[in-house]
Amino acid sequence: MIDWHYPRPELAHEHLARLFDQGLSRLAFFGRRRIGKTEYLQRDLIPAAAEKGVVNTFYCSLWENKDQPHLALIRALQDALPSQRGKLRGKAGLNLGVIDFSAEVERADRPRPALANELTLASASFQQWVKHLDGRPGLIILDEIQHLATSTAFTSFAAALRTMLDMAPPNIAVIFTGSSLTDLQRLFNDQKAPFFNFATVVDFPLLERPFVDHLARIHREITGLTMTTARLWELFDRSGRNAQVITGLVSQMVLRKSVDIDATWADIETELTGAGGWCERAWADLLLSDQAVYLLLLEGQELFSESSLALYDALGFSRGSAQQAIKRLINRSLIIRNGHGRYERIVPILDQWLKLTGKTSQTLTPPTAHAP
Ligand SMILES: Nc1ncnc2c1ncn2[C@@H]1O[C@H](COP(=O)(O)OP(=O)(O)OP(=O)(O)O)[C@@H](O)[C@H]1O
Ligand SMILES: [Mg+2]
Repeated sequence: MIDWHYPRPELAHEHLARLFDQGLSRLAFFGRRRIGKTEYLQRDLIPAAAEKGVVNTFYCSLWENKDQPHLALIRALQDALPSQRGKLRGKAGLNLGVIDFSAEVERADRPRPALANELTLASASFQQWVKHLDGRPGLIILDEIQHLATSTAFTSFAAALRTMLDMAPPNIAVIFTGSSLTDLQRLFNDQKAPFFNFATVVDFPLLERPFVDHLARIHREITGLTMTTARLWELFDRSGRNAQVITGLVSQMVLRKSVDIDATWADIETELTGAGGWCERAWADLLLSDQAVYLLLLEGQELFSESSLALYDALGFSRGSAQQAIKRLINRSLIIRNGHGRYERIVPILDQWLKLTGKTSQTLTPPTAHAP
């Protein structure tokens, strides 16, 4: 079977060198949604770690149990112990999944604090894992770590996890990843945060042009047809380097045995920008304050100028709500804060849709009725 995975061995090599050779044994990756973090960890980093002599890696996505993330950790630890190993991921194939630029902000429905005996179990399982390593190198990967910042119910677990990891011997390295940037920042950068100063925070590199060339090569291998990659690259960049969207596009082209990027994209775009499509749903999902802030950015306005503050006021929310709106937009991977402290929109297709539908900051209207 053809493997669609685009490998990044140099990146894995670099990360492992930092973790195991340069003494930066704890890293936290920042990165927006769907740029290939999880796939990289599972397909590149974990196998490269094994090759480098890392005896045991355990991977835990804290979303596996959104209400009780501590149970996800306990399960991952127990799976990692030698008697229970053996779940390997299959090869990547055609991507026919739902196309999704920025995902909904995932929250637990009924977050529940860890019970004392569960924390004891987590800690005991961790000790057992450490003992199994017996001084040999081990790697812990905690994916979607930002989830722990989304509810106060997770505070005791986050603190216990920090203590556990703090006491881990130096042969153990840790990688945290997450996609919701403000939550991640909250966990690592606030003085009072559970993981304050605990890990070196690094930007997760976006996939570049060779990834697009790789997809075109796969397409050619299967269909025998050659496509021009310049347009594919342009679309990839326009989608915010969303790996899922672009593999979805090429998968469709394979199925159609087509090299017509634009026609295939047009169909996908209809799903995104048509009636009831992704843009419409994503927009409807935003609060009025989020919409106002987004539109002001789109119109090139300063977010806290007099006229912007007057707009917030007219729409019935405060400056503080606008600040919260910025955070929510970052969490939804609709905007990012660039190195110069300015906010940039990262999903051009949404901008296109807003223009198409004639939405501007002036067309927003304050809520008429009071919420019940
Ligand atoms: N290296 C790659 N080669 C081929 N396809 C990839 C690669 N990385 C990502 N993809 C495609 O993009 C999809 C999304 O990637 P992934 O789930 O790793 O992103 P993520 O950054 O972890 O997203 P999230 O923040 O939502 O968890 C994958 O399911 C796969 O289809
Ligand atoms: Mg992921």
